[in-house]
This record gives sequence, C-alpha cells and structure tokens, in this order.
Amino acid sequence: MTEKKGTYYITTPIYYPSSNLHIGHTYCTVMADAMARFKRLTGYDVRFLTGTDEHGQKIQTIAQEKGKTPQEYVDGVVDGIKKLWETMEISYDDFIRTTEERHVKRVQDIFMKLYEKGDIYRGEYEGLYCTPCESFWTESQLVDGKCPDCGREVHKAKEDAYFFRLSKYGDRLIDLFENNPEFLQPDTRRNEMIAFVKQGLDDLCISRTSFDWGIKVPLDEKHVIYVWLDALTNYITALGYPESSELYDRYWPANVHLVGKEIVRFHSVIWPAILMSLDIPLPKQVLGHGWLLLEGGKMSKSKGNVVDPVTLIDRYGIDALKYFLLREYTFGQDGVFTNEVMLKRMNYDLANDLGNLVSRTISMIEKYNGGIVPDSKLSDAFDDDLKSVALGAAGKVEAHMDKFAFHMALEEIWILVRRANKYIDEKMPWALAKDPEQKDNLDTCLHNLSESIRIISILIYPFMHSTSDAIRKQMGLWYADVVWEDASTFEMMYQEKVKKGNPIFPRLDIAKEIEELEALNNAPKEENIPLELKPAIEYDDFDKIDFRVGTVLSAEKHPKADRLLVFRIKMGTERRQVISGVADDFTPEEMVGKKVIVVANLKPRKLRGLESKGMLLFADNGKRCEIVTTVAEDGNVVS
Ligand code: ME8
Ligand code: MG
Repeated sequence: MTEKKGTYYITTPIYYPSSNLHIGHTYCTVMADAMARFKRLTGYDVRFLTGTDEHGQKIQTIAQEKGKTPQEYVDGVVDGIKKLWETMEISYDDFIRTTEERHVKRVQDIFMKLYEKGDIYRGEYEGLYCTPCESFWTESQLVDGKCPDCGREVHKAKEDAYFFRLSKYGDRLIDLFENNPEFLQPDTRRNEMIAFVKQGLDDLCISRTSFDWGIKVPLDEKHVIYVWLDALTNYITALGYPESSELYDRYWPANVHLVGKEIVRFHSVIWPAILMSLDIPLPKQVLGHGWLLLEGGKMSKSKGNVVDPVTLIDRYGIDALKYFLLREYTFGQDGVFTNEVMLKRMNYDLANDLGNLVSRTISMIEKYNGGIVPDSKLSDAFDDDLKSVALGAAGKVEAHMDKFAFHMALEEIWILVRRANKYIDEKMPWALAKDPEQKDNLDTCLHNLSESIRIISILIYPFMHSTSDAIRKQMGLWYADVVWEDASTFEMMYQEKVKKGNPIFPRLDIAKEIEELEALNNAPKEENIPLELKPAIEYDDFDKIDFRVGTVLSAEKHPKADRLLVFRIKMGTERRQVISGVADDFTPEEMVGKKVIVVANLKPRKLRGLESKGMLLFADNGKRCEIVTTVAEDGNVVS
C-alpha cells in the first residue's frame, strides 16, 4: 500500500436542480472524479464533495410552474442527479444538498458570525437583476444592456436588504491574485478578475424579500439569504463548519474548487472575501474550466439545447464517454461538442488503438505460448525503446495531472499504446513464430507487450477503472491490486494465464450512429407533467352546453378589432354571425368551408359593436390555438 502523502480536498460546483443535468455538468464532475481517483491512487487522503444548490427564485418559479412545492420539485430532480452519478460511478465522498438541516443551520451561524464581525449591515438595494442567474448587476457590467453571464434581459429591482462589506476586501483580493498566481487559474481568468476588482468593488447584497424559498436571515425572518452566499458556504458546511469538526480540521482548506468559467467571479472574489471575514484559510486554488458548446452556442438547462449523458452512456458505456470528455477538450478552454468528434475518438483511440493492442497481444500469447505470458530473455533496440516509453509514462502523466491537463495525461498514455502497436509491427511475432531459433525473441516480444499493457491498465485506472479491470482480467492480472508505483517497473508479469474476452470497445459504425443519435435527439421526450387548468367543473355544468356542427360560409376581419374574426355560420336550417378572437392564429380565407363545432346556446353578446351569437370551439395545443373540426353532417349533435 502506498504511503499517504497528505490530504486532498476537491469540489465541484453544487448544481442547480432546476432540471436534469446535461453533458456540461457531466464534464465538470468527470474531471473532478478523475482527479479524485488519481490522487487516491497516488497516495493522497482524498475528500471529493459535490451536491446541489436548491434555493432561490429560479427554483421557486419552476416548481410553481410544475404545480409542486419547491421541496417536492427539487427532491425529484436531485434523485435523478444522484442516479446519474451512481450510473457513472462518480466516487464522491459526500453529496451536500443546501436544503439539508446540517447546511441550513450552519449557513445561519455563518451569517451571524459575519454580522458580529461588523461585515454585514442593513440598507436598501436598487439594481439590475437577472432572474435566471440570481445576480444583481450594475449598468457598467451589462453587455449590450443584457446579463453578462447569460445574455438575457435584466430588470430594475429594489428592496430592503442586508449587505456584506465586500468593498473592504478589494486590496487583499488584489494581493492574493498578484502574489499567489496559483490561487486562480487559468491566467486569463485571473487577469479578468484583477481587472474586475481594480474597478472597485461594491458591497454585496446578501438578502432578498421578493421570494421566500431560501434560508431565513436569523435576525429578520422576512429576508432570505442570497442564494450565492448560501451556496458558496457548502464547501465548509459539508465539513461541519462552524461547529468544531474532525472533517473540517482534516480537509480545510480545500486544494481545489473546480468550477465553470462563468462562476469564477463568485469563487475567486466573493468566496475568499467571506473566508477572510470569517478569518479562516482560503482554498488553495480555484480552477475555471471552459464550456462545452453546441454549434449554436452554450448548452444550457434554461435554453433547453442539451446533450443527455444518459443516452450516451446507454449506447457507448461510461468509460468511452469519460475518455472522450477528458481527452478531447483542453482544460480551461471552450470546446464544441459534436457526435462525430465523440464517435471518432471512441473508434480510433479506444476500439482501434487500445482494443486492438489488447486483443492482438492476447491472441498471440494464446497461439504461440499456450496462453501463458512468457518471460523476457533478450533485448534489442525495439525492446529498449518500448521499455523506455513505458517506464517514462507514469511521471509524465503525473506532471500533466498536476496542471489538470487531462487531455495531455491521456495523450501520454496513448503514446505508449501506439508505441506498443508499432512494436508489434516492428517485431513481427508471426514471423518469429515460424522460426524455432527465434523462440527467445518471440517470448521477449510477448512479455514486453504484456508488461506494457499491464502498465497501461494502471495508468488508465483513474480515468476508466472498469476498462482497466477488464484488461487486467484478460491479462490474468485479476489477483493483483492496481498500485500506481507498479507502473514504473517492467519486471512484474510472471507466467500469468491470459484469457481472451469480449472486445473491450466495440467498433462503431459512425455514420449509422450519427443518424440514430440525431433521430433520438429529435424524438419528443416522454414527460408526464400535469397541465395547469382552470378549476374543475361539474358534469351538470358541462351538460348545459348545446354543441352543434356548423359550416363557415364566410369570414372576415372585424373592422374595429385586429384580433377578432367575424364568421357567417350555417347550422342546419339556421344562419348566424359568430365572432372569435383567433385572428392571430387563422386567416379568414383558411376558415371558409371548415366544419366547426358551435356552442349554440351561449347568450348573444356584442363585441366591438357587432353581435356574436354562440361560440366556435378552439383548443389550446400548448403553443397556439387549434380549431375543432368535424367530418359530420351539418346540424348533427356531437355531444
Ligand atoms: O452555477 N459546459 O449551478 P449550475 C461546461 N448552482 N460546463 C458546464 C456547462 C457547459 N455547457 N454547463 C454547466 C451553478 N456546466 C451554481 C453553482 S457553486 C457554489 C454554485 C458546469 O447548475 C460548470 O462547471 O448552473 C458550471 O460552472 C456548472 O456546471 C454550473 O452549474
Ligand atoms: Mg449556470
């Protein structure tokens, strides 16, 4: 067992359970998981925290729209989020929900500590508010008059509120960014924040009265605590702060808060200022990663243009998806997600490069040596080169992981995968096998390939542990734990019995997959959300209505009202005038000749000077009005 190197505390953002998570959230959580697994494997005492940010106006509004209480609504979404992480085998140590009692109580205690310190005061807030982002902005922060984070409309809002003395911490924040560049990375983000803080910081409004789905301000229960103050503190409340706590003592300060670039400001300005005020250590690092974009822009729950990770896992497996996310995108930069790029990565790197290496090697060991890994006996230039690439890989992977360069760490491993495949072509074991004099050379070749695959199985473990397990089983290594240090020796394989299994990654027909993914994406999602309706009516009320079938003889616009159409309707023997407010959805021309259903006994009334006798049936399809028509004969009763 590896000796412990110290603690390592890593966090993801706590996501809003406003709807199911998409591939963007998955990307961040997969990076954090890979890092947590890497640190555990390399000897750290790791704590990995994730969770959900459940309060705020946005959640309250969505719950209302769905006819649920906010708590009912978030409970449902959070169940789904936990299931997703379980499916993806995300190895978090704790999942914090901001609606949990442990969090609520500690946030209130933290609020009081800030208050007693003199850093919270009461005042009045007036500003420009972006509801989806829960953010107040000043005029100068807007981009084209819109929210700088999401590009949507902001509106003026004013309320009595509590303020946090953020302005007091500006100088210390500049010091922090300038003297400790590691605190905030990448540098582009750090430079943005230096510029932002140098403009001068306003005090931060940290309470709201315009809605009530939040943690109450302990002094003043009309107010709820600003959702970002509530959310940011999760990183310490989950450890038990401010109560005295073993977890807090052991893991705080965090080594890294991994966050998307749009919330770097909250994590590198507001959060450190709160910690400064509480007089406790700052996290060692805030890392802002880039966005996964679709061709049309950022993927976003509120825009509804998302890629569903569950679909991809169902079709390609967890490891293929994780590999793609970690290998394809450069940490800190934005990247475009397309099915084609994903499928190519899966086919070329996984099915071809890695899959072939393993299956070719095992086939040859079975064919040429009865399924037993032979010992190495000789060494030539090809052997030496393979060995040196294999032995150098672990150190390079470590160096890249130190910088969160997941794509480079994986590239380093694939340099070895490709080197080993090339080694097969160079050594041509099938030719060696024909010549009994080359038996030692052949044995050495098969041994070296086995050692290389063993090393690869260790190196990929933090990123794709199931694939590592599958490879190790096929290589006869099922008995041995995965130990990182074992990636730095080439002398471990000893007469293991290999056994061919299923291909570790199937080959994909890219064109066919793209077609099927697109079809899936366009298929309507099965959802069962109750409609919002007027109050229920009695059968007797309904029975009072006399429905008749009529034919539209003529239709024209109402001379005095743009939205009204005036119809002449023939019902059996009677002709009459009916007016409907459907000019937005129908032209007069398209109405003529239609068989319609008329509420024939509705009391006549005047609409902008013209009499309407009865009413035509239209129904709301969720987007627009549809007319109710029939193929029945005129004058028939349909109800
Ligand atoms: O901001 N590409 O929650 P959130 C890459 N509750 N990453 C993406 C992404 C995309 N298209 N979309 C989302 C919140 N993410 C707050 C956080 S923390 C104290 C409170 C990832 O549900 C990325 O990590 O909007 C981003 O920062 C996070 O999800 C935002 O999730
Ligand atoms: Mg967001």
